[in-house]
Amino acid sequence: MKFQVRMEDPFAYACPVLVLGCFEGKADEPVLARLDQALGGVVAALFREKEFTGVLNRTRVIHTLGQAAPERLLLVGLGKEKEFTPERMRQAAGTAAQALASPSVRAVAVFVPGGEPLLRAAAAGFGLGAYTFDQYKTKADETGEIETVDFLIPAGTPLEGAERAAAEAMRLCEAVRFSRDLVSQPGNVATPAFLAEKALEMSARFDIACRVWERDEIERHGMEALLAVGRGSRQQPRFIILDYRGGEEKEKPVVLVGKGITFDSGGISLKPREGMEKMKNDMAGAAAVMGVLMAAASLALPLNLVGLIPAAENLPDGNAYRPGDVIRAMSGKTIEVTNTDAEGRLALCDALSHALTLRPAAIIDLATLTGACVVALGSLASGLLGNDEGLKRGLKKAGEATGERLWELPLWDEYGELMKSDIADLKNSGGPSAGTVTAAWFLKNFVGTARWAHIDIAGTAWEEKGRHYLPKGATGVGVRLLVEYLRGLR
Ligand code: BES
Ligand code: MN
Ligand code: ZN
Repeated sequence: MKFQVRMEDPFAYACPVLVLGCFEGKADEPVLARLDQALGGVVAALFREKEFTGVLNRTRVIHTLGQAAPERLLLVGLGKEKEFTPERMRQAAGTAAQALASPSVRAVAVFVPGGEPLLRAAAAGFGLGAYTFDQYKTKADETGEIETVDFLIPAGTPLEGAERAAAEAMRLCEAVRFSRDLVSQPGNVATPAFLAEKALEMSARFDIACRVWERDEIERHGMEALLAVGRGSRQQPRFIILDYRGGEEKEKPVVLVGKGITFDSGGISLKPREGMEKMKNDMAGAAAVMGVLMAAASLALPLNLVGLIPAAENLPDGNAYRPGDVIRAMSGKTIEVTNTDAEGRLALCDALSHALTLRPAAIIDLATLTGACVVALGSLASGLLGNDEGLKRGLKKAGEATGERLWELPLWDEYGELMKSDIADLKNSGGPSAGTVTAAWFLKNFVGTARWAHIDIAGTAWEEKGRHYLPKGATGVGVRLLVEYLRGLR
């Protein structure tokens, strides 16, 4: 999909579809009023009959039948003018993109009556909403994809800023799409080796260094917790290191860690059959980290960034780790495995230990870590826990700005009681209460005094129904959030 910015009068712009945002109850915006006049009052009639009144994310198509330059208009509701935000612009643009999925539409024009921030939001929403994953459809779908989007801006708007905003939004969308594609891949394709291959491909294309540790090297570094998780699968684990240096040479890197369980059956503590197919998305944290590195390099962010991905598959077989096993993590701490389905924290704890060796400015991990987080927050917010107020504040702010909202849960010491083991330093599962907190508390044992935040994306990585700029399926959550956060550091 290609974005272009044009300073054109939408009324006179010949195109298959013109997308027009409308505020609730406002049929008298200048462009809308002119179109209405040319079309014999049809827009006013829609508002009057309450068939379309500009309610947020409602749409209506009008064929112009030769009465105006655009062949059709797609009206999309922006909601009340007083309540308008960039997030609403993104949503409306995403809704429009999803509504336009039809075989005949390849080129679209979108009228954006404002400056850079508005254009940025519209372009991001459009690019995200137009996503489909059809790699495994042997027949081309009836829908097809939009090839070009022309953003029409009014005369007098600074063109250069608008063009920059559109170009940056396109790069950001590419990174989110890359992340979504990885998550959408089935478990038989997206193995640990596949993630490693994608990371290497990315490093060849962008200015990012990449190293992949195979089993012996993981062993040599003492990452026994990661190895334990992967032992029940024929697919060997990988430890992937991505390194982007956009900052000063001596500057400490921000280290991102992404859970890369390419399929989570639960292992010997097997999950119930219903919905187990969803567990192919248990590498969404890894996919997000890869997306952030891609975006950082593509947008040339001026900072140093490392991405760490512990990748493994959690299956039960004769070699699998079992409930009751005691393992020694890279840090030296011993862990009693009380549940092999609490595998994410095991893979992550060794990655966090490695992160500490990099003298990080901060560590941020992303993981589809707990079902409890889905129960607590559903799909509208990711869980946030950590040991540094400033870091958490910055992340929350980025969450509000991008619509990838975060909600903080407490990490009080007392929760640690639930994770005490009778025979080892800690156990990996603390039972049903406070599941998201105890998982984070487990991780906290491996970050020492480093500034650290943990983001649980179990509920936000996958969209069940499809809404505005999140078509049904993988959301790519975390990419826009962290890019926004990292941008704010400068
Ligand atoms: N990958 C799951 C968490 C998950 C559940 C993500 C549902 C998305 C949707 C994780 O590995 C897991 O199984 N967690 C257990 C932990 C428990 C055994 C302490 C859980 O949440 O039930
Ligand atoms: Mn699990
Ligand atoms: Zn898992």
